Amino acid sequence: MTTENKRTAVITGAAKGIGKAIVERFIKDGYKVIALDLDAENGDILVKEFPEGDVDFYKVDISSEDEVKAFYEMAVLKYHTIDVVVNNAGIIRDNMIWNMESDDFDLVLNVNLKGVWLMCREAAKLMRLQNQGRIVNIASRAWLGNRGQSNYSASKAGVVGLTRVLALELGKYNVLVNAVAPGLIDTPLTQKLPADALLKLIEAQPTKTIGQPSDVANVVSFLAAETTQFITGQTIYVDGGKSIGAGV
Ligand SMILES: NC(=O)c1ccc[n+]([C@@H]2O[C@H](COP(=O)([O-])OP(=O)(O)OC[C@H]3O[C@@H](n4cnc5c(N)ncnc54)[C@H](O)[C@@H]3O)[C@@H](O)[C@H]2O)c1
Repeated sequence: MTTENKRTAVITGAAKGIGKAIVERFIKDGYKVIALDLDAENGDILVKEFPEGDVDFYKVDISSEDEVKAFYEMAVLKYHTIDVVVNNAGIIRDNMIWNMESDDFDLVLNVNLKGVWLMCREAAKLMRLQNQGRIVNIASRAWLGNRGQSNYSASKAGVVGLTRVLALELGKYNVLVNAVAPGLIDTPLTQKLPADALLKLIEAQPTKTIGQPSDVANVVSFLAAETTQFITGQTIYVDGGKSIGAGV
């Protein structure tokens, strides 16, 4: 396949962690990848890891309405069709609610929920006209509730709700919208946790293991594929069974 007739996929938070694993998987799947991240240094490194033309990188803050709009305006002119958008970028600012500053609530909601909403709104405008598309939003098992994550859990619960609404609004335009809810995954985000806290979290898993970014990427790949039909508005857990919640 030449670059011109490859399916195109926009992936946010692509410079590291789960986003980078999604990029690697999508390249194997034969996509032209359009990678977005705030982290331009790792974004440039990412581009160089693949044959020229496989990955284009853009520094975009998904919480900025102006930057998101400008990106899509450019992308329509340059790529014409966007087949898949994977909203993966996300952040944490954990604390018990009585110690949490409202700035940390605003920041997490602005990136994890408003940022995803902004990316989805522009994708929806485009995909409606294309009469085809796939949106995959990376939520988190934490939407079910995690102590110390009142901001993060609320933002991810919002992503699950947003995904369901967009599935209703876009279904008749041949656009399928789903979410993936990872549990404990080995990325720079979780590598920041103190070692003893991480061990406790792994011990609380039914599988007694931590997931790999590729475990999430495999499910995103499935949901994005043209051959996957008739699944929309769903949240698929990739969490070693943690969401079962009982009898661990
Ligand atoms: N690691 C886990 O255990 C885990 C579990 C559940 C859900 N998740 C979710 O998976 C996604 C990826 O997590 P990760 O562990 O790979 O995180 P990470 O911190 O390793 O990578 C996230 C990337 O997003 C980018 N980013 C942050 N804010 C941005 C913004 N405003 N605009 C554009 N890019 C931005 C960062 O620069 C970074 O490269 C997040 O949405 C996270 O909430 C992760």
